[in-house]
Amino acid sequence: MKKWYAVIGDPISHSLSPFMHESWFDEYDIDAAYLPIHVEPSQLEKSFEAMKTLGISGFNITLPHKQSIVPLLGKLEESAMQMNAVNTVNFDGTHYLGSNTDGDGFVRSILAHSVDKASKVLLIGAGGAARGIACALKRAGFTDVTITNRTFRRAEELAAETGGTAVTLIESEERLAEFGVLIQTTSVGLATGEALPISLERVKAGTLVADIIYNPLETPFLKKAEEKNCITLNGVGMFVYQGAIAFEKWTGIQPNTEKMIQLITEKLG
Ligand code: ATR
Repeated sequence: MKKWYAVIGDPISHSLSPFMHESWFDEYDIDAAYLPIHVEPSQLEKSFEAMKTLGISGFNITLPHKQSIVPLLGKLEESAMQMNAVNTVNFDGTHYLGSNTDGDGFVRSILAHSVDKASKVLLIGAGGAARGIACALKRAGFTDVTITNRTFRRAEELAAETGGTAVTLIESEERLAEFGVLIQTTSVGLATGEALPISLERVKAGTLVADIIYNPLETPFLKKAEEKNCITLNGVGMFVYQGAIAFEKWTGIQPNTEKMIQLITEKLG
């Protein structure tokens, strides 16, 4: 019987997940469909019940439901427990199992660029996205992670939780040449014309500079990093790999990520 999957969110029409998963279902000849479903916050519980009744095999969750879905699920993987947030649900025949593939998706996207796990990493930001990435870096075996944030207290809290070190924005700017990997997780750069979260004046040429934002494809931060001869990476990789991990959970197949990164980049370009 045909299986069905979905992504739920509010808003949802902009989501590229249906395109990505349907392309992979086609590519691997899997008899399944993937639907975008608009779910308002007040309708989350009812919508989940309806999807269960209709035999959904799995789904993704985007804003604003990533946390509010948690109490509705039977079981959580470690990634979701650490974050108290879920972006992927997989029906294992008995339970609706919640996981969070965002952080691991990001880490896979940098590992695909042959990053050394012993590199000195600077994580910029201390919100939800930064937390997912800090936890995933630790799980993957990165040993030297420094966190900086506009609100220093939040950097300190995240560093304490994940075994990293916190530095102020000014200190991070002064010591920038020490880092081999920079990861930009704040919302600075989403709106056009915004300033950079930190100055890149002292960045070393050849540093891997990653931004989790993928729309725009090139943030002012990445533009500046390119001018400084850094290797730049936008958020398309993270988006595709978080989806690839979900797809693997649902089908057992590791989908072609490189081709998908190209297709999504073309769509957003
Ligand atoms: P998300 O879940 O997307 O990470 P969040 O939890 O609201 O969202 O975190 C947003 C991050 O962007 C935080 O690190 C925030 O810094 P503060 O902790 O100081 O608020 C950062 N951020 C947002 N706007 C910023 C700005 N204009 N300049 C610098 N940092 C900013």
